[in-house]
Amino acid sequence: MTERAYFDELYASSPDPWDLAARAYELRKYDLTVASLPRARYRRAFEPGCSVGLLTRLLVERCDEVVASDLVAAPLVLAAERAPAATFRRGGVPDDWPPGRLDLVVLSELLYYLSAADRAATIERARESLDPGGHLVAVHWRHPFVEAACDGDTAHAEIRRDPTWRVLVEHVEPDFRLEVLERGAD
Ligand SMILES: C[S@@+](CC[C@H](N)C(=O)[O-])C[C@H]1O[C@@H](n2cnc3c(N)ncnc32)[C@H](O)[C@@H]1O
Repeated sequence: MTERAYFDELYASSPDPWDLAARAYELRKYDLTVASLPRARYRRAFEPGCSVGLLTRLLVERCDEVVASDLVAAPLVLAAERAPAATFRRGGVPDDWPPGRLDLVVLSELLYYLSAADRAATIERARESLDPGGHLVAVHWRHPFVEAACDGDTAHAEIRRDPTWRVLVEHVEPDFRLEVLERGAD
């Protein structure tokens, strides 16, 4: 697992360390992510690892309620300016998970920072908190990088190991993989 100190230092060196607000690659990926949502409207979404809120800003347009979180406090200030309709929590998954039912969970560029055990626990928490028929969106960079515990394809394969997820969308490019999975009934 990538330690919190790593992300604290990153945000101390730059308010938007991945340049998420400016890179065409990221902005297109956010647009594709929301365009892949099968439903016009969602009731309640959770987006852990929201960083500076670029995707959060798009999600609030499609959801009655969005709860978003990050391990680090600093990006949440910018995220709250971008998406004032969302509710923000400082905390790390899998431990910090909002109470209550969800019909959408968005894991964007997050799973590979977690240990194998935390990835499994996060995926399970998503499954448990989603209503039957609720959607899990996963989108991850496919190439290995130093801080990552695994690559994006591996993280997505771990989700799909549980056959109760129904794959609704599978979009694969050389650089990233985007999937929407529907939670089946127990
Ligand atoms: C690469 S950024 C991705 C930001 C955004 N989700 C996106 O797709 O552009 C990863 C973010 O996850 C946060 N993060 C890392 N581990 C986390 C955890 N266990 N729980 C919540 N957020 C975490 C980091 O602080 C960072 O802001």
